[in-house]
Amino acid sequence: MVDGMHKGHGRSNAKVGAGHVVETQQFDRETIEKLFKLADSLEGVREESLKGKIMAALFYEPSTRTRLSFESAMLHLGGSVITMENGSESSSATKGETLEDSTRVVNHYADVIVMRHPEAGASARAAAVSKVPVINAGDGAGQHPTQSLLDLYTIRRELGRTDDIRIAFVGDLKYGRAARSLGYLLAKFKNIHMTFVSSEALKMGDDIKTYLKKHKVTYDETEKFEDAMHKCDVMYQTRIQKERFASQEEYQKFKGVYIINRKLADSMKKGAIIIHPLPRVGEITPEVDDSPHAVYFKQVGYGLLIRMALLKTILGGRKMK
Ligand code: CP
Repeated sequence: MVDGMHKGHGRSNAKVGAGHVVETQQFDRETIEKLFKLADSLEGVREESLKGKIMAALFYEPSTRTRLSFESAMLHLGGSVITMENGSESSSATKGETLEDSTRVVNHYADVIVMRHPEAGASARAAAVSKVPVINAGDGAGQHPTQSLLDLYTIRRELGRTDDIRIAFVGDLKYGRAARSLGYLLAKFKNIHMTFVSSEALKMGDDIKTYLKKHKVTYDETEKFEDAMHKCDVMYQTRIQKERFASQEEYQKFKGVYIINRKLADSMKKGAIIIHPLPRVGEITPEVDDSPHAVYFKQVGYGLLIRMALLKTILGGRKMK
């Protein structure tokens, strides 16, 4: 059992244990800090600590970063990878196999399962029947906990702190699992203020707002983002989640509403950062890329370190000190 990674509570009622990573609410602050310390120590490291261990990447939805960074992380640590991309079309799910049965089967092949799925709660369902740890790599409009850990790690690396932060979340806050997860995670830190910038139809869910109130985290909501841009320490830009809309027409109504251009980036406070889970599809223009505020590609590198730290912690059986 990995300390601080076993208490499934909040959105899911799944009985999670044995190192499953299902949602960000399960992490306590001490665990996060230990994970970050381990990630710091893994920069530039290639080792054999996970030699003989096998990671199964089960992806039922498209991915570039999450799948490849988990695979790369495993290879950096000397482990091996079996992978199923495009699982919604190429796996036995097309024949009607349940997620639970597929999980039971893969338990015989791998020491850890990294799963992306279009349905919220899918990883929790898999974790409930799995004897090996299940890591949620994004479940529909639910959560993306490892993205949030790398987002927070980016904040810590770039700002030097995880407390006293004013963060603006921009874009699709209704369907964007990365923003939702980070909202839950940041609630564990001190003096955090969140500004939710979105169109009315894509507002942050009440589940998170209730959680923030319970944890005494202040937030405000607005449809205008220039003011939030000037005031924030962290701008979390997100794409509109095209795949969650019923029609292309509906999606087009919201695409392009919030775009960070160079002029807006230049109006940010000194030291403030722009992060984005990526992929971006026009909501940050390319001329922002060499702004001192732009850290979204550096963030990808921090993601590799966090996923190495997670795998090493879960599979290496080491307690984080
Ligand atoms: N940030 C993220 O989840 O990217 P991918 O969809 O490419 O994995």
